[in-house]
Amino acid sequence: MKKLVILTGAGMSAESGISTFRDSGGLWEQYPVEQVATPEGYRANPKLVIDFYNARRKELLRVKPNKGHELIASLEPYFDVTVITQNVDNLHERAGSTRVIHLHGELTKVTSSREPDNPAYIRELKPEEYDVKMGELAPDGSQLRPFIVWFGEVVPMIETAIDYAEQADIFVIIGTSLNVYPAAGLLNYVPSRVPVYLIDPKEVTIVSGRKVHVIRKGASEGMEELKNMLLKER
Ligand code: OAD
Repeated sequence: MKKLVILTGAGMSAESGISTFRDSGGLWEQYPVEQVATPEGYRANPKLVIDFYNARRKELLRVKPNKGHELIASLEPYFDVTVITQNVDNLHERAGSTRVIHLHGELTKVTSSREPDNPAYIRELKPEEYDVKMGELAPDGSQLRPFIVWFGEVVPMIETAIDYAEQADIFVIIGTSLNVYPAAGLLNYVPSRVPVYLIDPKEVTIVSGRKVHVIRKGASEGMEELKNMLLKER
């Protein structure tokens, strides 16, 4: 089976009703990124940060995967599919994708404030635990923090993601402005013979200069078109 690697960003979940970050009205317009998505912001006001992610987590209970997520999952009988996502929601998994690599962490998980990358402390919350309180502690006695990779922190999953990018037979990019590294650099690891598709309703600047097949549509409509193309060419 051909290896299909799909890199997704906030635009993937836009049609599910989750705001993107950098579009007008996006999350970083409403909440300063330095306050809610950096270790410094967390140190300055942990409650504000914990509450911000509590609200994002509760939003997960209201939204569902869209047609785009479902179409990606529906490709698994035909391709060896790997989803590399910058999203912290769980919509790919809920749509049925079985291999999902989360570069920026997962909303449904919490970890230790002292050692956030230590697998011993990373834990999935049950929905009834989604409202994390100040004073709730990780097993090492530190405040329970969201399992989110903030700006300025290392991205532990990037090595795994690079391995998949290097092995790809087909590479697809959906709904990301490609502003944030190292995720935005993954395309550089994709061998030059490999076809690359990009689905986004807006123009996205790609620095590598390689040929990219652009589908200028939203995630659902774009995936519909891509699925037809991929199945025909298979
Ligand atoms: P951005 O908000 O930067 O980009 C969203 C992209 O989605 C844009 O290119 C939009 O044009 C596109 N888009 C909007 N609606 C769409 C739709 N219906 N279908 C498809 N695409 C659509 O979000 P990301 O690139 O994902 O990190 O941002 C990357 C990272 O920056 C995030 O993971 C987050 C953020 O700060 C952290 O929180 C650590």
